[in-house]
Amino acid sequence: METIIHRLDVNRINKEVINEASEILKKGGLVAFPTETVYGLGADALNEKASSDIYRAKGRPSDNPLIVHISNKEQLYKLVKEIPHNAELLMDNFWPGPLTMIFKKSEIVPDGTTGGLDTVAVRMPNHPVALNLIDSSGIVIAAPSANTSGRPSPTSSAHVEEDLCGKIDMILDGGDVGIGIESTIVDMTSDIPVILRPGYITKEMLEDVLGNVDIDKAVMNPLSENVRPKAPGMKYRHYAPKAELIIFNGKMNDVIRRINEETDECISKGKCVGIIASEETKDKYKAGMVLDIGTRQDEDMIAHNLYGVLREFDAANVDVIYGETFKESGFGQAIMNRLLKAAGYHVEDV
Ligand code: TXA
Ligand code: MG
Repeated sequence: METIIHRLDVNRINKEVINEASEILKKGGLVAFPTETVYGLGADALNEKASSDIYRAKGRPSDNPLIVHISNKEQLYKLVKEIPHNAELLMDNFWPGPLTMIFKKSEIVPDGTTGGLDTVAVRMPNHPVALNLIDSSGIVIAAPSANTSGRPSPTSSAHVEEDLCGKIDMILDGGDVGIGIESTIVDMTSDIPVILRPGYITKEMLEDVLGNVDIDKAVMNPLSENVRPKAPGMKYRHYAPKAELIIFNGKMNDVIRRINEETDECISKGKCVGIIASEETKDKYKAGMVLDIGTRQDEDMIAHNLYGVLREFDAANVDVIYGETFKESGFGQAIMNRLLKAAGYHVEDV
């Protein structure tokens, strides 16, 4: 299959291109598009065959449900059985934006979109290309991140091309995304809402609106063998580079010394080493491929660069990656959640 790639100026969106993409979606095809978090791989959420094609293109396990993207609240009423008052409050505060909510699904949402669950994940993205595409197609768009399953999510159109060129109908290139890690997912079906995946909208921000909010255990801890996490996607080794990733935790000077030692040892065995460093520490690493993920003072920058850095190590074919830890409060929780998952929870205390 030939993949058509269109570049779009997000300040002056070319309607003809959006119409062409809409026609593809209406016929059951696949279109990758930018959102404010990561690129999504879109298809008609109410067309079971179209959503099954998403799984095929990504190589995604079919029990891992998709997020349905909408551009106005009316679309939500058709997708869900009920909208709890708490969800109305979150919508008013955070939509359009990087927040996904889980609801009990209505009959029109096919099992193929929800991985057989009786709930559906819905989000109104805050990106002009995404909103235009949903509006002009009149379609609610099922869209997982537009990467091959298991690889780091795409934060640029080049990342989407790397993974999906030849497997999907179209890529809408709207430049680099803003946030760089996926939306916060909150389960609204229990009395106290539960965060299933942390993101830019933090627990503190949700609690400012709702009072009490819980966090699912699977967020920061490895799952034991037979536990099924509430967000099925959290059970896979996720967001992961090809090389083994090991995170070192401790006082910064000790971490740097240890990473330098491990790096020397690996290099002496003929291996290639990647190091995830921060602006503050990058000059302290003496060998290996050192990538600066940004300053520790700016979590937005770290999140924005994380997946791109992991993909750069992939492209360089490093054998092993060593990383520092970052603080776990606020937006940092989402950053550490992705890093820990990418590392398969391989953390060494120094
Ligand atoms: O920022 C994002 O959310 C991006 C952009 C494209 O919108 N999308 C995204 O989708 O990250 P995906 O498929 O890569 O991740 C969706 C996650 C998975 O972990 C999945 O298991 C979970 O959401 N999920 C989807 N529907 C669910 C449901 N009904 N109940 C629990 N978890 C659900
Ligand atoms: Mg994903």
